[in-house]
Amino acid sequence: MKGIILAGGRGTRLYPITLCVSKQLLPVHDKPMIYYPLSVLMLAGISDILIISTPQDLGAFRALLGDGGRLGLKLTYAIQQEPRGIADAFLVGAEHIGSDDVALVLGDNIFHGPGFGEVLDQSVADLDGCVLFGYRVPDPERYGVAEADDRDRILSLEEKPARPRSNIAVTGLYLYDNDVVEVARSIRPSPRGELEITDVNKVYVEQDRAGLVDLGRGFTWLDTGTHNSLTDASHYMQLMEQRQGIRVACIEEVALRMGFIDADACYRLGEELASSGYGRYVMDISSSVPLLRAAN
Ligand code: G1P
Repeated sequence: MKGIILAGGRGTRLYPITLCVSKQLLPVHDKPMIYYPLSVLMLAGISDILIISTPQDLGAFRALLGDGGRLGLKLTYAIQQEPRGIADAFLVGAEHIGSDDVALVLGDNIFHGPGFGEVLDQSVADLDGCVLFGYRVPDPERYGVAEADDRDRILSLEEKPARPRSNIAVTGLYLYDNDVVEVARSIRPSPRGELEITDVNKVYVEQDRAGLVDLGRGFTWLDTGTHNSLTDASHYMQLMEQRQGIRVACIEEVALRMGFIDADACYRLGEELASSGYGRYVMDISSSVPLLRAAN
């Protein structure tokens, strides 16, 4: 399965912070925001990943992550000239997807919860059409909203409905079979001029090939779209990390756990950052974290 991270947009709700810095590069506590969605794809076992961003910002992502080789990944980059909507990622990324299945994650979505790796593994294994990840929220009208039956098949989807039919928000992580490229080509821009991901997902719902994974109680899905929610996300990570002595979305650690790199390579990556607590953490865990997958 291929991966795509969509890290475009203007981040206008975060102005003036995002006037000349990409939203997805802003810090969430101790690391750039994009580390969180990147680690989600890595946890799903995906190592061939396309990062899509704006003409102004793409160079900064490339400077941060390079070709991914140091993490055992293959990272490539593509420009989205205008914010044409989330589903445009499949048009920009068509060549990258090729004949594979694909996972799309939004560069500003933060997921954290126990057993997420297993949930992702299972979802990738069961993929038939598309899999969306639902999260119960008090304010569903701000999101794509799903209504599902008791077999977790999605019955209806609505984008930011005034009167939501459920409290299940559709999060910014999506798994698709290869048909998604054709589906994205077949939809038309919405009244706000964007190719809506919800319109792509509705095609799968009509075909009864859209599954919902309810992320459930105890799981955390964080929004980073406003000044307050961005600060809240940083506080959440700071608290988690201080109290539990772990770091969330430490991409070097995830690369090691997933067997994308070995312990020596992990240690060396930490050494380069040794003047920060993050770097020392990477050095410390390099010899102690249990592998989830055998090293290549
Ligand atoms: C987008 C999607 C929406 C989804 C949300 C998740 O909304 O259109 O369906 O629930 O991402 O973050 P946006 O953030 O563009 O308002």
